[in-house]
Amino acid sequence: MALFKKENEVPMPRHIAIIMDGNGRWAKKRGLPRTAGHAAGAETFRKIANYCRTLGVEYLTVYAFSTENWKRSEEEVSGIMKLLGNYLREALQDMEKNHVRFRFFGDLTRLSPELQQLCLDAQSRSGAFDDVQVNFCLNYGGRDELVKAAKAFALDVASGKRQAEELTEDVLPDYLYSAGVPDPELIIRPSGEMRTSNFLLWQSAYSEYVFMDVLWPDFGPKELDAAIEEYKRRNRRFGGV
Ligand code: IPE
Ligand code: IPE
Ligand code: MG
Repeated sequence: MALFKKENEVPMPRHIAIIMDGNGRWAKKRGLPRTAGHAAGAETFRKIANYCRTLGVEYLTVYAFSTENWKRSEEEVSGIMKLLGNYLREALQDMEKNHVRFRFFGDLTRLSPELQQLCLDAQSRSGAFDDVQVNFCLNYGGRDELVKAAKAFALDVASGKRQAEELTEDVLPDYLYSAGVPDPELIIRPSGEMRTSNFLLWQSAYSEYVFMDVLWPDFGPKELDAAIEEYKRRNRRFGGV
């Protein structure tokens, strides 16, 4: 029996993606401002990134701010940006200790010059680390990513670098923010919402989604373990039988 189990064991996902949702509701339940929920959510992110490192997860992609999140109040948006800045400054300081490699998916040009610089520094200074790669989705939208990819390919055709016929399912991903990163096997969305909200539209074609009722600030290693266990029980068919 033990042998049977081992042979059929689904390996750990190499790449886990998380839609970090539910901060606002967490704060509301406590009579706190939404920004307090984002601060608690940032703490959760620190813990989960660390836990993923100990689990040996190779890539952790987190949805931190979407192209649609600009619709929120200026107070909330600037609160989130401030937390991101704080996190990146801290990450830059602890770089040698944590060995996390950073990448940023999204259109960073809309962020403040200071935040853009922090992203660039975090990305370039962590390039050689390989404990876990954290892909931060900032001003990220799956549709925006696909439009930018189509535009970049069209420009390569116009300049003679590419032929239009060369565009295939293998070539298009090279034009995405996630170029070079394998698709996530597992996508987790806490907070009880069951939608993608414009997250990783191309990359999630065959990802296993796990939706959970817990709000992101209440998410912990126990919840991550449960999501991974659920993932391991899935039967991934990729269109086959
Ligand atoms: C996720 O939490 C964080 C961001 C979208 C930046 P929310 O702020 O969306 O929390 P809820 O969904 O309102 O509870
Ligand atoms: C998705 O959450 C974006 C992030 C978690 C960063 P939202 O709270 O923005 O999504 P909707 O509005 O519920 O679809
Ligand atoms: Mg939300």
